[in-house]
Amino acid sequence: MTIPYPNTQPMPAIASVTPPSGSSRPRVTFLGTGYLGATYAICYAELGYDVLGFDVDADKITKLNAGEVPIHEPGLDELLKRNLAAGRLRFSTDIAETAEHGDVHFICVGTPQRADGMGADLSYVEASVTSLAQHLTRKALIVGKSTVPVGTAEWVEQLVGKHSPADLGVEVAWSPEFLQEGFAVDDVLRPNRIVVGVKSEWANGMLYAAHKGVFDLAATEDREVPLVVTDFATAELVKVAANAFLATKISFINAMAEVCEASGGDVTQLARAIGYDPRIGNRFLQAGLGFGGACLPKDIRAFQARAQELGAGEALRFLHEVDLINLRRRTRVLHLAAELLGRRAGPAGPDLSGTRIAVLGATFKPNTDDVRDAPALAVAALLHKAGADVHVYDPQGVENARRAVPELTYEAGISEAVAGADLVCVLTEWADFRNADPSVLGDLVAGRRVVDARNCLDSALWTQAGWEYRGLGRP
Ligand code: UDX
Repeated sequence: MTIPYPNTQPMPAIASVTPPSGSSRPRVTFLGTGYLGATYAICYAELGYDVLGFDVDADKITKLNAGEVPIHEPGLDELLKRNLAAGRLRFSTDIAETAEHGDVHFICVGTPQRADGMGADLSYVEASVTSLAQHLTRKALIVGKSTVPVGTAEWVEQLVGKHSPADLGVEVAWSPEFLQEGFAVDDVLRPNRIVVGVKSEWANGMLYAAHKGVFDLAATEDREVPLVVTDFATAELVKVAANAFLATKISFINAMAEVCEASGGDVTQLARAIGYDPRIGNRFLQAGLGFGGACLPKDIRAFQARAQELGAGEALRFLHEVDLINLRRRTRVLHLAAELLGRRAGPAGPDLSGTRIAVLGATFKPNTDDVRDAPALAVAALLHKAGADVHVYDPQGVENARRAVPELTYEAGISEAVAGADLVCVLTEWADFRNADPSVLGDLVAGRRVVDARNCLDSALWTQAGWEYRGLGRP
């Protein structure tokens, strides 16, 4: 027999298992109803599973039970209401009820960066697993979904062994998620792959049954969802490796932007030209203000910290550069702003006092209200710190931004933000900004100067309308 290279041999058959609750498909729970858990719980009910979402935050649970989605995510609202009404979905703060409900329990709690270093804080994982394990009264499968340092699944298995009654034979598995904000519903219902880390045939069979809705939906749409069955360590690493790769791709093109800035090249054309090579591909090659959000920045740091602990720190040293390239884009915008406003930078950076700057965009990317580690908001804060009078508008993120950086002035629309501005900075590529008419905006500002930090505007159009235009990595 010829073994194909790369090795893509079909999967061995998966054993069919009966859920311990006796129901025909496994009953599932999601512990943690943040971005990840809420989206999964709602989408799994949509796939036909009997779902319970658990959280310690009573306010969140009340809202979800009342049909209110705590985050801005296209499509989720309607699915929540529909599935609550259908009786397939409920939310609870009662851990005993949660333990009783589930055959498969997915752990979806946050793993933020530790306050005292670069590593991940696993205290929410520990708390949720421990209390769940203590309340189990029959066999169940506990599946980690949160992004964690490699080795966590083994530790969770030990916790479960310590806190659940030994005779139940509770098992552990790992199945990372790959949700992108703004596309999360589709990423759950129509994932481009499912990865499971398992130790037994029973766990494999249960997880297959718990994903069958996804495979069935794919079959009705004439698609296939590849399934990768692997060990714990690989399953945990897949997630951080994928995010490290994406972050590296973005920082690669932003490094090219720096070289373009020094040499007079145009990074947008460079990206287009290299992206036609299918080995490179054109996605995630958008040069600009760089990556932010709740995942990529913290994940590459936690990955380095873990590799260091394992004695493999050298292997991931490049991720430190990836981080630095990313952060340098923020100061680059500050310096471009100063340059356009004719301000020289001293040892403490540029002095922008007496200038008024419109900042368009606060979220870490468009179509979300999430401002966690948002490059846009970080730049707005830098401009403010340099003395500028900063007026921010964002289509969805103003409320969260105001909470995170209260010292800025927030406006209700584009016109209000740009009125009287000496400089406009476009920091998130919302469609409203991309499609804004430069002639109309030109009549509102005090000076027609624009920094297009996402390279999302039509530079010719803006220049023709009399704007002094600057992109990142462009002449
Ligand atoms: C990311 C991963 O894509 C997802 O698979 C994982 O589960 C969680 O982290 P998300 O944080 O939603 O998802 O955002 P993503 O769309 O990946 O964008 C991340 C950041 O990179 C954004 O700030 C975006 O503006 C920036 N970005 C993206 C670029 O600067 N250039 C690009 O070409 C692409």
